[in-house]
Amino acid sequence: MSDGSSFYITTPIFYVNDVPHIGHAYTEVASDVLARWHRQAGDDTWFLTGTDEHGQKILRTATANGVSPKEWADRLVATAWQPLLATIDISNDDFIRTTDERHEKNVQLFLQRLFDAGYIYTGDYEGFYCVGCEEYKQPTDLVDGTGQYEGVQVCAIHSKPVELLQERNYFFRMSDFTDRLLDLYESNPEFIQPESVRNEIVAFVRRGLHDLSISRQSFDWGIKVPWDDTHVVYVWFDALLNYITAAGYGSDDARFEELWPATHIVGKDIARFHAVIWPAMLMAAGLAVPKQVFGHGWLLVGGEKMSKSKLTGIAPNQITDTFGSDAFRYYFMSAITFGQDGSFSWEDLSARYQSELANGFGNLASRVIAMVIKYVDGRVPDAGTLTDAEEGLRALERSVVAEADAAIERLAIQDALTSIWQLVDQLNGYITVQEPWKLSKNPEDRARLETVLATVVHGVGTLAVLLSPVIPEATTKLWQALGGVGDVADVPIRQADDWQGVGRVETLAPLFPRVETIEGAA
Ligand code: MSP
Repeated sequence: MSDGSSFYITTPIFYVNDVPHIGHAYTEVASDVLARWHRQAGDDTWFLTGTDEHGQKILRTATANGVSPKEWADRLVATAWQPLLATIDISNDDFIRTTDERHEKNVQLFLQRLFDAGYIYTGDYEGFYCVGCEEYKQPTDLVDGTGQYEGVQVCAIHSKPVELLQERNYFFRMSDFTDRLLDLYESNPEFIQPESVRNEIVAFVRRGLHDLSISRQSFDWGIKVPWDDTHVVYVWFDALLNYITAAGYGSDDARFEELWPATHIVGKDIARFHAVIWPAMLMAAGLAVPKQVFGHGWLLVGGEKMSKSKLTGIAPNQITDTFGSDAFRYYFMSAITFGQDGSFSWEDLSARYQSELANGFGNLASRVIAMVIKYVDGRVPDAGTLTDAEEGLRALERSVVAEADAAIERLAIQDALTSIWQLVDQLNGYITVQEPWKLSKNPEDRARLETVLATVVHGVGTLAVLLSPVIPEATTKLWQALGGVGDVADVPIRQADDWQGVGRVETLAPLFPRVETIEGAA
């Protein structure tokens, strides 16, 4: 655990052919929680997200809608992808678009360097291409189609037919890097996580790598190959470079030195691009490989990856309009083990909202504030003599802080929440046992009442600090009501139990109000 160390974290950049669904928002939220945690720990944090705007998929969508691809991208970024960040409270430090000049120029610089170093050659290619994946497919990547595609082979991810392409392209000598990649995976087992994704990728690379076609000639929506403007750069080659062009590669070397390498959070479907092609590209350019590639699982609907193309996409604001962005963030981080698939259901969301957020944490916060107002006039008392119950809670606060931080360090967001929730449950249990409402009735129990109230205020303040990266809105309100000093997001999270308050509380409206109707629920 490294106070003050640098933490550069990225999401994938999103295709702008369509609007976001909750699967995309899930990637954003997980990355955002990690970024907020590190920022609050005092690590020098930089959080990048953005959009992937070139390639055939975007070109086709734009053409079908009668606009140029750039117009289409501008429209989708402004009306859908940027607003998504506000909808789910994303705290990104930068937003890169692959049509930004800072990106296009330095993709060309990178490519030219690889060309000059002898890693690029011309060749012919014939293969099956999936426009949905923007990737050439091997026969083993295809499955039998069903329904309208009965009798044809389709992409296993998109369930749509692939196209046979035959082109004269530029190739990247990726096969040269097979051994170096295998060495990397072996010498740095953390490089690809979780284990299931790592095993799949190691097995894939062990079968031997082919060279990669990195240019296209049949359309022109892309970055021109610097030495041959009849070709555009393959969209994945272009897109992966966003992680360094946004960090100053080619434009601000000092900044790039400081930031790079990054931790990449991606869906498992695109882990291979990030853990194979991307490090090979970086090795060829003589740059450091990423710190880590984490391939999270999919949100499933009916057992399949949620997707707009399969019409199973749910828009994030369908959830946030009813439950709020905090509930969205909490639900996906606590209900799904990061790294595994998870099924979304309105019933599960609604049940957890009620039991964990409204009755568990929200009610605890409201009760504590209300009791301080009612029994001691809103002035937070000092604790007197501590019994085992109070000592136990203080010790729990300390161990929860350490456990949660260790869990975040291994990207186990759900484990961090499980740890923190021990404190929610123990504080609620403590109040039930101590019965401050009874203590308040006897003047001779005053000292004991003050100790109990001081203890619960302290615990709830620690919770506000620890939960701030996950539920920033509710914890900001709670912090204010507790009389916490400054902004809760600035309180050092690794010392969450050392927080300071001004000594007075203010009334607090319910943090997670009752939800009457559930839009979209069955
Ligand atoms: N543009 C590429 C990424 C380039 S990164 C250099 C791309 N874009 S995408 O918009 O299709 O997907 C972006 C991310 O959303 C991926 O990490 C993908 O795994 C994730 N998800 C898309 N559907 C998802 C679910 N149903 N569940 C969880 N994540 C999902 O790929």
